Amino acid sequence: MADSMYGGVVEMKKDFKMKVLVVGSGGREHSLCWAIAKSPKCDELFCAPGNAGIDGIAICVDIGADDIDALVGFAIDNAIDFVVVGPEAPLVDGLVDRLEEADILAFGPSAAAAALEGSKGFMKDLSAKYNIPSAEYGRFDEPEAAKEFILRHKTPIVVKADGLAAGKGVIICQNKNEAYAAVDHIMTERAFGGAGEEVIIEEFMEGEEASFFVLCDGVNAVALRSAQDHKAAFDGDEGPNTGGMGAYTPAPIVDDAMATRIMDKIITPTIKAMAAEGKPYKGVLYAGLMITSTGPKLIEFNVRFGDPECQPLMLALKSDILTALIASADGTLDKIKLKWHDEATLIVVMAANGYPGRYEIGSEIRGVEEANAMDGVFVFHAGTKAENGALLANGGRVLGITTKAKTVAQAQKLAYKAVAKIDWPEGFYRTDIGWRAAKR
Ligand code: AMP
Ligand code: GLY
Repeated sequence: MADSMYGGVVEMKKDFKMKVLVVGSGGREHSLCWAIAKSPKCDELFCAPGNAGIDGIAICVDIGADDIDALVGFAIDNAIDFVVVGPEAPLVDGLVDRLEEADILAFGPSAAAAALEGSKGFMKDLSAKYNIPSAEYGRFDEPEAAKEFILRHKTPIVVKADGLAAGKGVIICQNKNEAYAAVDHIMTERAFGGAGEEVIIEEFMEGEEASFFVLCDGVNAVALRSAQDHKAAFDGDEGPNTGGMGAYTPAPIVDDAMATRIMDKIITPTIKAMAAEGKPYKGVLYAGLMITSTGPKLIEFNVRFGDPECQPLMLALKSDILTALIASADGTLDKIKLKWHDEATLIVVMAANGYPGRYEIGSEIRGVEEANAMDGVFVFHAGTKAENGALLANGGRVLGITTKAKTVAQAQKLAYKAVAKIDWPEGFYRTDIGWRAAKR
């Protein structure tokens, strides 16, 4: 869209109201729908496919987030003005390109730009070419060459599948035998399918992790508040890696000086690099960072909001999210300044017993309304469905108890008070979300 049809929405067409479609079904999409529904610019809100929590604030449409043809068809048939894409898979598969071909404005990167998440090799080569600080690495499409590289490097060492592997394609190896086995697991046994056609072998970086989110419009970038998530399943950051068991914002490790450093060393060079490569980056860019003794280093990029980080971010945002998302899509982010509440926000994820491994769906959850009725508490649904008036678990991560309070420590306390209202024996949660910030 060269000369944007929405470029003047912010200032000129104050009365223009939009029909908006959000794509996805998780807690991230519930929080996006919740924030978008509050916008004076939102006329009608749809979500495909949505969940039991989204139903009620948006009209849920029974189309899967990966069904590109059906999503584009729905958007055309229903005269949707703006589409917000939540998860990475439809972005990597070109949903935004297809919508733009149909002249529908969409929030998110093109397929070419989504390669920042879709191919770890692409991201690593870009970082190397443009001097963006990241782990030293090698890229291999043949197991023997990968093992040869491991032999010559020190441990711990990290082995990654190149493609999308639902957050599971990263194996941290304490010794060389583990690393050889990881190469076989990914490349020979194809544990992550086609994502394992190539592997990346990386130096292990030490430090504290942080998530940094920016909205981009191809040229400009606007930073969101810093956040930190907890990827490990159990207390004390133990146990298997998950999509995220909790998060909070702001993250004290990213103070203003660190945020400036991250912008200067990582974000701005990446946006310039993508433009120079003919793949201008639009949408939200999520940098997973390791704050090391020598400064921030890039672990990975994601081309979407983090889940669960998005939920506390939406609760902390004071500005109209829809205006900002439109500005990202139509190239007017230079006009946007985001305002945030002073309070900290935090989310505790409740997951089905067994997650991230095998788990059952269909168990009944009680007490969500009681938790929601508490001051400063909002329960976002991640994997739920309603059946005969009951709320049932319908996924691995099921609920996100999200709170706002003066400090992270107070938000944490409030969240666990709310969690105690939820009666769901088939679920579990971490009891220490926010411990690093609460301790400070
Ligand atoms: P990713 O899916 O790339 O975010 O990796 C998942 C997790 O693995 C990250 O959140 C880090 O905790 C860890 N990780 C990935 N790459 C590295 C690395 N090079 N050094 C240390 N930890 C890493
Ligand atoms: N919370 C981590 C992610 O969204 O990838």
